[in-house]
Amino acid sequence: MSDSIHGHAMIDGVWCDADSGATIDVLDPADDRRVGSVPACGPEETARAIEAASRAFEPWASRSARDRATILRRLAELLRRDVEDLALIMTREQGKPLAEARGEVEYAASFFDVAAEIAPHRSGAIVPAAAPGRRILVTHEPVGVAAIVTPWNFPLAMITRKAAPALAAGCTLVVKPDERTPLSAVAFARRAEEAGMPPGTVNLVTGAPGPIGETMLADARVRAISFTGSTEVGRMLMRGASVHLARPSLELGGHAPFLVFEDADLDAAVAAAVACKFRNAGQTCICANRFLVADSIADRFIERFASGMSLLRSGRGTDPSTSIGPLIDDDAVAKVERHVTDALACGGRLVFGGGRIAIDGLADRFFAPTLIDGLDASMAMWREETFGPVAAVRRFADEEEAIAMANDTEYGLAAYFFTTDASRLLRVAERLRYGIVGANDAVPSCAEAPFGGVKHSGFGREGGPWGFEEFTNLKYVSWRS
Ligand code: SIN
Repeated sequence: MSDSIHGHAMIDGVWCDADSGATIDVLDPADDRRVGSVPACGPEETARAIEAASRAFEPWASRSARDRATILRRLAELLRRDVEDLALIMTREQGKPLAEARGEVEYAASFFDVAAEIAPHRSGAIVPAAAPGRRILVTHEPVGVAAIVTPWNFPLAMITRKAAPALAAGCTLVVKPDERTPLSAVAFARRAEEAGMPPGTVNLVTGAPGPIGETMLADARVRAISFTGSTEVGRMLMRGASVHLARPSLELGGHAPFLVFEDADLDAAVAAAVACKFRNAGQTCICANRFLVADSIADRFIERFASGMSLLRSGRGTDPSTSIGPLIDDDAVAKVERHVTDALACGGRLVFGGGRIAIDGLADRFFAPTLIDGLDASMAMWREETFGPVAAVRRFADEEEAIAMANDTEYGLAAYFFTTDASRLLRVAERLRYGIVGANDAVPSCAEAPFGGVKHSGFGREGGPWGFEEFTNLKYVSWRS
């Protein structure tokens, strides 16, 4: 792969630059070196992309679901064929270790496998109505043009998690990736073209979010907007979507509790805690953010957790020995630092890590895996998502208190708990007010499941047959014989 990549936008099957010729540099968060650039598209390019998606809609929607599925399967194959190239692009623009980037490529491809399996079998219904001789025929119809707005933390999989059911259902797309990680999106659009997606079905506009998002929301032809990102931006998009009543699907912030009961398999819980907390340097919406541990085992848990953390290696994602890459930008590091300083000022005890790590030749954006004991409700970490490699532990006396603590948040994306008591398993799972619960499972994400949250974590589900519902309308035909 050449050293610097100039990605293009894709509008109506044509790779293009911004009308103004302006570009945005994409920088490696590990060392600020330029990875490449993409066009700084704005309202004009976005309007053309919507126009193209709108024209492509009827022909694409009228193909058979099996036909669409064949192209999507090919697209999954191409993503897998090019796993090494795609992973390298992702690591360079996002920072995550190559092994995680390869995992993300596989995860991204699996959404097309699942959507291609489901689409040809999605059936409607014929309902016998009460009136004699009358029948109700219920069908699923694609909503039309869908806007897909994706974040930097999973530059490929967050596109495919939305694009797969949308395309399989017959929608056409305008994709807007985060401006920090657009090169994975460009690489995705190239494979979509190679797989045989007709011109206009997958359009890609790169650039600053404001002008592109406003243009999407102001256009009545955009019938759905699917977004993954912060709760704050989700609210703005929802307000904007109300103008033309485009259907919003919002996967927003999380603030996951991770409960360890006294009867948990401690080794399994500790291994899971490390995997769940430090994946992508703590930069996932479902990373554990508050560790709640039974009093009687808390000291042992903390000791083993710290020892698990000591095995993690920070560094450039392309170095095979790296398990934690850089944080995405300086603001992300500043937030993590603020949370740690605040927790210690409020009486927390630093057990491990605690600050930035200087690595020769690399940017000042590596934060040590950090463990704090004595988390309490006065701390910013109790209320806000940290989005970084910091774990803090709070102790609980009994199950009732643990559940109350776990639910003490406005967010509701993912929660985890560890226990070997089968009756507790169901009881606790039912009482956690979250869209996703990992019961003795720290990696619940998969393409078959309905990923999504409740409360301020948003609404809408991505994955499995549920993902289709965000991109389809029910229609019924009432006929009398
Ligand atoms: C996210 O951080 O929103 C995605 C995490 C996942 O799919 O596992």
